[in-house]
Amino acid sequence: MDMKKSIRTLFNVVLIALYVVSLLITVPSVYFFTRQEVYDNASQKLTLLVDMVTSLRKYVSDDVRPELLEKNVLFPPAISSTVATGHVAAYFKKLQPDYYIRVVSDNPLNAANRPEAVEQEFLTFFRDNRNEKELISTGVVRNQQYLFSSRPSISKADCMICHSTPEAAPEIIRKEYGTQSGFGYKLDSVVGASVVGVPLSDVQSLVMKRSLIAIGILTVLFALIFVVINLVVKRRILNPLETIAATADIISKGNLDTPLTFERDDEIGKLAHSIELMRRSLAKIMERMSRK
Ligand code: HEC
Repeated sequence: MDMKKSIRTLFNVVLIALYVVSLLITVPSVYFFTRQEVYDNASQKLTLLVDMVTSLRKYVSDDVRPELLEKNVLFPPAISSTVATGHVAAYFKKLQPDYYIRVVSDNPLNAANRPEAVEQEFLTFFRDNRNEKELISTGVVRNQQYLFSSRPSISKADCMICHSTPEAAPEIIRKEYGTQSGFGYKLDSVVGASVVGVPLSDVQSLVMKRSLIAIGILTVLFALIFVVINLVVKRRILNPLETIAATADIISKGNLDTPLTFERDDEIGKLAHSIELMRRSLAKIMERMSRK
């Protein structure tokens, strides 16, 4: 029967539309929240690491350096917070290979401190924006994406002990690094950058994994709803309607002896009741007419 098809189809089309809409909402939401989570997570770790490095630098330049300079001891790891950071970073890297701590310069004493492409961008940024004290940004180094915090290294009078000219620098510097590079610092200029980074998890693959799980759950849920709704519609609406329609057919053919009783207190019950009333009225009228 046509009616049966159309009511059920209507329900199913609505369900499928809801399913599609829920998928369309789910995937972007998963993307948004996952991205947020990955960045929040990374920036918490980054703050921790930056604060640790800052504390280390402060320890060297405030607690150690003045004492040693007074005694004219020019041992770089104890005099320069940059050098100290480099040493600590080397140990740290062994324990935590995923993290990133570097002090770079495009005029380095140590060639290993030459900036990567992304670090050169940080240097350029700080040279163009002398008021900026910190730059937070993302970048890729050797195929790993990081959340970076970089700060400018500004040359001060103290730095000149080692970074002015090779001749003026302590012998230990010349011996270890040569005389080619790392000298000629100008006072109060951006000579380098201190870069700290934490790895960013791969947002794309996380989103993919979580979306698949969410889509799986939604699909199972909608499949269940689909089956239950179809069952309920058939039992509670379509089957009774068919019975009522069949009775109405019989009545229309002039057979007024079949009562239609439906013990239901809803719209279908009401419809059945109305048809039953109509059948009785018709039966009375027919009876009266046949008596005449
Ligand atoms: C006692 C000597 C000494 C002093 C003072 C000193 N440095 Fe250095 N600096 C070094 C040495 C040695 C290195 C190389 C460390 C390494 O091997 O990684 C270095 C490295 C650096 C680097 C990394 C790039 C490179 O050259 O390898 C920067 C940037 C830097 N210093 C900036 C500064 C600034 C800014 C100051 C002053 C606030 C300063 N330094 C004071 C000895 C010194």
